[in-house]
Amino acid sequence: MAQTEPVHIGEDRLVIHNLVKRDPSAGFAEDVRKGLSFEPKRLLPKYFYDELGSLLFDAICLLPEYYLKRAENEIIERYADEIVSSVDGHKTLLEMGSGSASKTKLIVEALLSMQDDLLFIPVDISASALESSSRILLQSFPRLRIEAYAADYFDSLSALSAKQRGRTLALFLGSNISNFGRDEAPAFLRALRRVLREGDALLLGADLKKDRSVLEPAYDDALGVTAAFNLNLLARVNRELDGDFNLPAFKHHAFYNEEIGRVEIYVESTRPQTVTIGKLGIEVHFSAGERIHTENSYKYDLTGIAQMATETGFSCTRTWLDSQERFSSNLLLAV
Ligand code: TRP
Repeated sequence: MAQTEPVHIGEDRLVIHNLVKRDPSAGFAEDVRKGLSFEPKRLLPKYFYDELGSLLFDAICLLPEYYLKRAENEIIERYADEIVSSVDGHKTLLEMGSGSASKTKLIVEALLSMQDDLLFIPVDISASALESSSRILLQSFPRLRIEAYAADYFDSLSALSAKQRGRTLALFLGSNISNFGRDEAPAFLRALRRVLREGDALLLGADLKKDRSVLEPAYDDALGVTAAFNLNLLARVNRELDGDFNLPAFKHHAFYNEEIGRVEIYVESTRPQTVTIGKLGIEVHFSAGERIHTENSYKYDLTGIAQMATETGFSCTRTWLDSQERFSSNLLLAV
């Protein structure tokens, strides 16, 4: 991966399609108003990732308790060649939810050791993340071209379906699939399957079910970074919507719901209180112990992944695990 000399990035090697339609701040206001009127209250996880939230998430990935990112990195570092060789032919790489694309680099490198050139199609909701990660990749790999889509998953899939592509390897990494519900995950895989052809493949990252003594600290670390990440949602309402959430009067709460197989994440009011949100012109009441739901992180087992693959037009042909067998990378072949 070492790149010794700077490479001029010809503009022709990078195209970014921006399909994000709605004014993002209007969307936030509307979703906060709606979410806080629900019973139980809730805020959407996509709003974690403002500038501060994205930095806090990067910090979470460095915590000893949050093993997910390190485990998946270990797998891809070790097996990138094997992974890309599992799909035959000259490939195009498609990544849904590419974010900072740090693991992608390893896959790109493996592909370019086997073929002369590569078209990479990253899709992410954040145009700025796409632009910076694309520039880094283009500098490292002179034989790479990028056609990026700033869009949400389903919009990008309808844009992609019309295009003729060669053999495609798609990536859906990290805990992306975890944040879909039990019905949403197969719906997403079916939609993705529709833009692939028989013989194309999807590398699907999935965190595995395990003891709560490992899962709960991963979402509630001793240093309190995850708590800060979660409470940043309230701080963001204060900053952007003129709210007056008193942060010390709320606490982070995460627990593993073993029956359903998911870590549930909440912000909990420690006492009865009323919060005013200026820009929305509303007052929101909380009782002591009342929670706002902020995220579910679903955990999988290998039979569940294989079954979901079969139900959505794929066949799970290979699974790679990290050395502690906490996380899985699964090759789903489009059949
Ligand atoms: N969605 C990620 C996951 O399921 C991100 C995450 C890590 C997260 N820690 C969190 C989301 C705490 C909310 C709260 O692993």
